[in-house]
Amino acid sequence: MTATAPRRVDIVGIGAGDPDHVTVQAVRALNAADVIFLVTKAAEQDDLVGLRRTILDRFVEQEPRLVEIRDPERARGASAAAQAGAVARWREARAQQYRSLLARELAEGQRGAFLAWGDPTLYESTLSVVSGLAAEVDVDLHVVPGISAMSALAARHRIPLNRVGGSVVITTGRRLADEGLPDAAGDVVVMLDPDCRFADLDEPGLVIYWGAYLGTEDELLVSGLVSDVAQQIVELRAAARARKGWLFDTYLLRRRR
Ligand SMILES: C[S@@+](CC[C@H](N)C(=O)[O-])C[C@H]1O[C@@H](n2cnc3c(N)ncnc32)[C@H](O)[C@@H]1O
Repeated sequence: MTATAPRRVDIVGIGAGDPDHVTVQAVRALNAADVIFLVTKAAEQDDLVGLRRTILDRFVEQEPRLVEIRDPERARGASAAAQAGAVARWREARAQQYRSLLARELAEGQRGAFLAWGDPTLYESTLSVVSGLAAEVDVDLHVVPGISAMSALAARHRIPLNRVGGSVVITTGRRLADEGLPDAAGDVVVMLDPDCRFADLDEPGLVIYWGAYLGTEDELLVSGLVSDVAQQIVELRAAARARKGWLFDTYLLRRRR
């Protein structure tokens, strides 16, 4: 009986928009891959696909096979419950797609790599989808951390994410709208907020550190009291989105102590 050689999959964090975010560990993992899986979304803009291609052109010296996958379409739910159902259905569709992809494209003993935006462990479903399949499809799973939008935001504003001994909550725009600012948190990082939910907060002394297109040549940074700069950010955001057709932004809300 011959032993089967394990297949390996690396989920590789590529940073939040600047090719210089790509780490040495990521470069090594990409160069060791026989197959690189490029996941694109129907609504995704050329810029985002282009950045992934720039990273491959710049850092990958071998000639791995590139396999492009179109992410299943994802419905949006009006309420949190409807949204959770839509996400569950989308994850299942994705799991099925990846199950057949890994069986079809990765031979025994080969290595595959998925590119994950920012850090693969933060608001990124590739890791959980592949890790849910790892035992079933018999792959050895590895994760290469990346620079997240949150780290890029703090670095560009030259601020620590936490204050001495304090906690930081990371949340989404939807949760901020549904639940308000978490009671116990002094500092709150908000991602995935297309609706400028910060503008609805009415807390005296609340400071925002906002960044869009972090790490790219279109980067925008604004900071100040929410009461002073919210409208400026809303307008800046709308104009930038209209100009480019897409926008990624992240912000930190800092309570007065
Ligand atoms: C699907 S999540 C992916 C997060 C990613 N895994 C990370 O570690 O940053 C997408 C969200 O990340 C944030 N984001 C990603 N890249 C960004 C960038 N270059 N500038 C600002 N925000 C960014 C935005 O909040 C966006 O809605």
